[in-house]
Amino acid sequence: MTDNSSAANSSPAASSSGDVDEHGFPRRGMLYKGVAMILGAIITIIPIVPVVGMVLDPLLRKKRAVGPTGPKVDADKFIEVAKLAQLKVGEPVQMPVIADQRDFWNTFPNQAVGSVYLTLQPDGKIECFNARCPHLGCTVNFRSGDNIFYCPCHDSSFNADGTRKNDIPPRDLDPLEVKQNDDGGILVKFENFRVGVHDRTVV
Ligand code: FES
Repeated sequence: MTDNSSAANSSPAASSSGDVDEHGFPRRGMLYKGVAMILGAIITIIPIVPVVGMVLDPLLRKKRAVGPTGPKVDADKFIEVAKLAQLKVGEPVQMPVIADQRDFWNTFPNQAVGSVYLTLQPDGKIECFNARCPHLGCTVNFRSGDNIFYCPCHDSSFNADGTRKNDIPPRDLDPLEVKQNDDGGILVKFENFRVGVHDRTVV
């Protein structure tokens, strides 16, 4: 009897409206507390966001990296890799593929992004293969004495026309599109393809 009268005396308005929690605090006060906690959390997190961004930046940069750029890349993303005068009829010549790479913030000039084999055909056409073995991605070497592309990683080889000589690689060498410009430059549409699979899928 005494307890009931004491509770009623301590908060008559709240009790009369029923707007209290099980501890006797007004519910509106709890709402204010919740809002204050959320605002406090936001104010605490905001300064941390740039720090987290800096830490993750190298990973994000890799994911967001765009294709090669620079003065040697034309509007169709063909990269100049050689001059016509550097090629030999019927003999593959290996050329590095050099280009700038760029992400949203930075440009990385003159990066080696791969290499290709260019072969000038007797009819003047130019054949191009990505030098990456389609088995597991090792770089193949052209052996002029045997007239083959040899892959040292698994003792495998390809004919000069890119066809595989055994079943270790899942497909032939990967051909690339080639074109020439007016200055005698040889440009290739450089692409890498998924290794270890039969189908040619750009990565
Ligand atoms: Fe070339 Fe395995 S990586 S045969």
